[in-house]
Amino acid sequence: MSNWIDVADEGDLFEGAGIGVAAQGHDVAIYKTEAGEVYATDNICSHVGHGRLCDGFLEGHEIECPLHQGRFDIRSGAATLEPCEEAIRSYPVKIEGGRVWLDLA
Ligand code: FES
Repeated sequence: MSNWIDVADEGDLFEGAGIGVAAQGHDVAIYKTEAGEVYATDNICSHVGHGRLCDGFLEGHEIECPLHQGRFDIRSGAATLEPCEEAIRSYPVKIEGGRVWLDLA
């Protein structure tokens, strides 16, 4: 069962970067790639420092944590570079009516 919620204006997104949103008790990062694709993951890094990924550096489909430069694939949440080892959650996201929608179900 899906549970789409409206979390941001499409204009809040910037190509090649992420933004942080709080939705239903989740801290979520929403990214827009240079190619214009939109993805969403947990915003808090799974490594010990719990860096905020919305403040990290986005390269292609990888987000680099600003604290210790570990990386995750924003499509799946999989850890792709140490010291990150544990995956984070990824969430379905869509743009509709000029708004950004997240499915947190
Ligand atoms: Fe993210 Fe250490 S807190 S890599």
